[in-house]
Amino acid sequence: MSKRYTITAALPYTNGPIHIGHLAGVYVPADIYARYQRMVGNDVAFICGSDEHGVPITIKAKKEGVTPQDVVDKYNAIIKKSFEDFGISFDNYSRTSAQIHHETAQEFFKTLYDKNEFIEEVTEQLYDEEAQQFLADRFVIGTCPKCGNEESYGDQCEKCGTSHNATDLINPKSAITGNTPILKETKHWFLPLDRHEAFLKEWILKGHQKDWKPNVYGQVKSWIDDGLRPRAVTRDLDWGIPVPVEGGEGKVLYVWFDAPIGYISSTKEWAQREGKDWEPYWKDEDTKLVHFIGKDNIVFHCIIFPSMLKAEGSYILPDNVPANEFLNLEGNKLSTSKNWAVWLPEYLEEFPDKQDVLRYALTANAPETKDNDFTWKDFQARNNNELVAIFGNFINRVVVLTNKYYQGVVPTPAHLTSIDEETLAAVKAYPAVIASSIERYRFREASQELMNLARLGNKYLADEEPWKKIKEDEERTKTIMFVALQIASALAVVSEPFLPFTSDKLKKILKVETGDVQTLWDEIVNKDILIPAGHQIGEAELLFGKIEDAEIQKQLDKLEATKKANEAANKTVEPQKEEITFDDFTKLDLRVGTILEAEKMPKAKKLLVLKVDTGIDVRTIVSGIAESFTAEEVVGKKVTVLVNLAPRALRGVESQGMILMTENAEGKLVFVNPDMDQVENGLQIS
Ligand code: 2FM
Ligand code: ZN
Repeated sequence: MSKRYTITAALPYTNGPIHIGHLAGVYVPADIYARYQRMVGNDVAFICGSDEHGVPITIKAKKEGVTPQDVVDKYNAIIKKSFEDFGISFDNYSRTSAQIHHETAQEFFKTLYDKNEFIEEVTEQLYDEEAQQFLADRFVIGTCPKCGNEESYGDQCEKCGTSHNATDLINPKSAITGNTPILKETKHWFLPLDRHEAFLKEWILKGHQKDWKPNVYGQVKSWIDDGLRPRAVTRDLDWGIPVPVEGGEGKVLYVWFDAPIGYISSTKEWAQREGKDWEPYWKDEDTKLVHFIGKDNIVFHCIIFPSMLKAEGSYILPDNVPANEFLNLEGNKLSTSKNWAVWLPEYLEEFPDKQDVLRYALTANAPETKDNDFTWKDFQARNNNELVAIFGNFINRVVVLTNKYYQGVVPTPAHLTSIDEETLAAVKAYPAVIASSIERYRFREASQELMNLARLGNKYLADEEPWKKIKEDEERTKTIMFVALQIASALAVVSEPFLPFTSDKLKKILKVETGDVQTLWDEIVNKDILIPAGHQIGEAELLFGKIEDAEIQKQLDKLEATKKANEAANKTVEPQKEEITFDDFTKLDLRVGTILEAEKMPKAKKLLVLKVDTGIDVRTIVSGIAESFTAEEVVGKKVTVLVNLAPRALRGVESQGMILMTENAEGKLVFVNPDMDQVENGLQIS
């Protein structure tokens, strides 16, 4: 029987594009889940939108000299388009600046206010006298009272994930002026989380110990065990949704109060467009509500938002919150400010038509139970060794041979051997195995089962060798190809949640109906034949292309350049060394020289072996400049040489001196030789 699902994916902050961390943590698993649920016939509302309020957006606007609305308009368009191009199948993508959201959030607040679910209180809050404003959330930085991180924000510490009040910070500083704030009285509305403690204990600690992921359950438990306190849900800011009650003038809703309500308003927007009723998706106990988020959002989705929903009284609560851990990139934490990321719009430009490769690489290596690392080498290997060599290779062989032997018409099988029967039975078992992994939010495992189905196809062909049998037993070959075509069709269907572009392409090649995927999924389980004898398939077309080393190197080079640029930006001037005497200095014999020859030292990344005319002699100097220069480009260069440095052997070559170098802002080495082009070799430098 069809079940109703409301599937939400965290609303991204609209102050930058989407990167692979967001995709792996939230959007790819959410999309697999939503596509799968639709495919098995469930009634799905897959909901998202831009999170357009909050301090980071105001900070970005200030920095760029534009309005916050300009910032969100720009990034909302970029984010929305990149999700579409990447095949994330939201039923609705809204934005929290939409009128419908402002109304919904204000109405929600008003209901809680009218029900006396808030505490209204004048308290002392941090205030920057110079900037003349209260310092909420990211406008204030200080030491986290829980873990000691000195760069915690006012509302949340990114290091330990704790969510706190700005006044809890130790040694707070204004992020606007750097000043130490004073305390100033102001009125706010607080959601008394402590009032909901008993319900949360019953609902989560008792009710979801088994079915929620241990990382999610553990974080929530520790929060509840620490004791819950009232949390302010309004702010003294001018960017956000105005507080809709008396005394709320000049104040806005806290971004984490309005953002999750964004799921509701986005559902309303979708329902209006589709002529549906939104309410069952949020209020019917039979609806399964699932929030896909990253681990830094756990407390908001498992404690604060459910407390809001419970306080309102007419809403359902999430059935599960399968939060993922974080994805790192080449061993380092992803960082927007350090530009340490693979940005989705850039990826789509550089790898057009390779959406499924990234989807697959991120799923196969998803940070489901611990933080994981994305490496370009792994991305290449997932593509070349799995998508190309296993999945693509199997399909290609089946389609090419069917066209070659039978002009693309599915042959009529003769007698099915026990191997054929077993193979078909195994194929039929896959949807249930994959479904079970998806239902338990184990998308890595599910993606590997999908690949195992392709492996099964490859093994079947390798064992049965239709390309040999065709010469000796035409009837047997027909049966083999018939069975192989059933596996190919199953792959076309089962791959849809994971590899939607590939699945579409494959369905077109096999000319299988794409209209009713549910029937197709059922057919795998319930019928023996997916693609009947006599059915005409299309021409072969490669599903995946090999990714060459050069393409990967280009990406690695880009990251290397980012790293160097960051190092240069952070470079502190080295302190002066210990004092030396004039006599010490005169001991250095520095000469003008010319590089006459240069060659790369074998098996040494950094070293060039140079022949240098020092004016005194022509000598060998081994120099660590090969990462900045090729051998050809240094020949003929005038250089500064320290000639009386004691010789030393480098990789078996004696180096007789040193060439003076420094580094430019990008970390590239440069020669220390201003205006020496006209100077004779051998002249002393003093
Ligand atoms: O962490 C974030 O990117 C937030 N913008 C997520 C919001 S999720 C929801 F509640 F809207
Ligand atoms: Zn902390």
